[in-house]
Amino acid sequence: MKKIAILGITGSVGRSTVNIVRNHSDEFTIVLASSHNNYSELFNLAAEFNIPNLVLTNKTQAEKITGLPENSKFYRGSEDLQQLIAELEIDLVLNAISGSAGLISSLTTIRSGIDLALANKESLVLAGHLIESELSQSSSNIIPVDSEHSAIFQAISSTPLEQVRFLTLTASGGPFLNLPLKKFNNITLEDTLNHPTWNMGNKVTIDSATMMNKALEVIEAHWLFKKPIAEIDAIIHPQSIIHSFVKFIDGSLLAQMSFPDMQLPILYALTYPDRLASDISETDLFSLPELTFSKIEKERFPLYFLGREIGIESGLLPTIMNAANEAAIDLFLNRKIRFVDLSKLITHTIENESNIDAPDLDTILQTNVDIYNKVKQDYKNILK
Ligand SMILES: NC(=O)c1ccc[n+]([C@@H]2O[C@H](COP(=O)([O-])OP(=O)(O)OC[C@H]3O[C@@H](n4cnc5c(N)ncnc54)[C@H](OP(=O)(O)O)[C@@H]3O)[C@@H](O)[C@H]2O)c1
Repeated sequence: MKKIAILGITGSVGRSTVNIVRNHSDEFTIVLASSHNNYSELFNLAAEFNIPNLVLTNKTQAEKITGLPENSKFYRGSEDLQQLIAELEIDLVLNAISGSAGLISSLTTIRSGIDLALANKESLVLAGHLIESELSQSSSNIIPVDSEHSAIFQAISSTPLEQVRFLTLTASGGPFLNLPLKKFNNITLEDTLNHPTWNMGNKVTIDSATMMNKALEVIEAHWLFKKPIAEIDAIIHPQSIIHSFVKFIDGSLLAQMSFPDMQLPILYALTYPDRLASDISETDLFSLPELTFSKIEKERFPLYFLGREIGIESGLLPTIMNAANEAAIDLFLNRKIRFVDLSKLITHTIENESNIDAPDLDTILQTNVDIYNKVKQDYKNILK
C-alpha cells in the first residue's frame, strides 16, 4: 500500500487523483491532504478515505472553522503543512496546489527525501535552480504529472538525456485558436474559461487561453529534462491526443498518445516505474479524430513567445513574470481588466524590473509577493 499526500486535493488535479484512489483503494492510502479554503470538501474526503491528517492552508479561514472532523487531526496554515510533510511517513507527495504557493511544499518534499509527483509547474518556473540543487543532495525523484511532461518522461524512459535532441510540447491552442484577431477586445471571462479539450482549474485554463501555460511548461521541461530552452518548443495540436514528442539524436521521433484525461498521467506518476491496469483511457485508433499540427502565431499568443524568452534569460525574471501573470489573472477573474490587458500588464511589468542571476529562496519569495501586490495596485495606471 503506497502512502500518499495530496496537496490541493479539492482542485481539478486533486479530484482526479482522488478518483484514482477511489478506484484503486487496495493500492493507495491518503495519509495527508490539504486545501486552501474549501474545508467542507476536505472534510467530506477525510470521512470517505479515513485521511488521518488534514491541513487548511489559509490560516485565517482555518481559525474560524468549528465542527472539525472526529477521526482526523486538523492543522492550519502552510507552516503546519511543511512540518507534516517532513515528519509523516509518506511514500509520495502529489503537489497539485495552483500557482507560486506550491513552491515551498515542493522544496520540503525534496528536502525530506520523498518522491514528488509534480503538477505544480510554477515550482520549477520560480526556482528550478534551487530544486535542481536540492535534488542533487536528496534521494527524492520528481515524477511529472503535467500531461506533456509525463509524455516526454515516458518516451525518454531510460535513454540517456544526451541522446535526446529536441522536445516538442503540444498545445491545444485553447478557445481562441481560430477567433479573428479583431474580436480579441471582446473576449469575456466566460469565453476564456471554456476550454475546448481539458477541464481544469481557473488559473491554468486562463493560462491555456493566452498560452502563457505553454511558456511555463517549456521552462518546466527545461528543468525536468536538463535541455536548453533552444532545444524545446511547442506546436498547436487542437485534438490533444499526442501529448508531446521526443526527437532522439538518431532522428527517431517518439510520441505518447491518449484521449485527454489527466487521470492517466496522474496514475503513471503514482505507480511509476510500474503501470497499473486501468480503464481510464482506451485509445482506440479507429475512433481518433484527424490529428493536425500547426505553428504558434506570435500575434495571437504573444505571451508564449515572451514567456519562452524569459525562460532563456532565467534568474529572477521567471518569478517576476509569474507574479505579474498571477496578479493579472486575479484581476481578470474579478472582471477588473480585459483579456487583452493580461499581456499588457505582464509585458509592462517585465520591462520595468531588472534581473538577478540565481536568486536565493528569500529573494524569490519576496519578489513574488512584491510584484503581485504592485500589479494589483498599479494596474489602472499601467493600462491608461
Ligand atoms: N487541471 C489540470 O488539468 C492541470 C494539468 C496539468 C497541470 N496542472 C497544474 O496543476 C496545478 C493545480 O492545477 P488545478 O487545475 O488542479 O488547480 P485548481 O483546480 O485551481 O486547484 C488548486 C488547489 O490548490 C489549492 N490552493 C489554492 N491556492 C492555494 C494556496 N495559496 N496555498 C495552498 N493551496 C492552494 C486549492 O484549494 P481550495 O480548493 O480550497 O481553493 C485547490 O485544492 C497547477 O500548477 C496547474 O498548472 C493542472
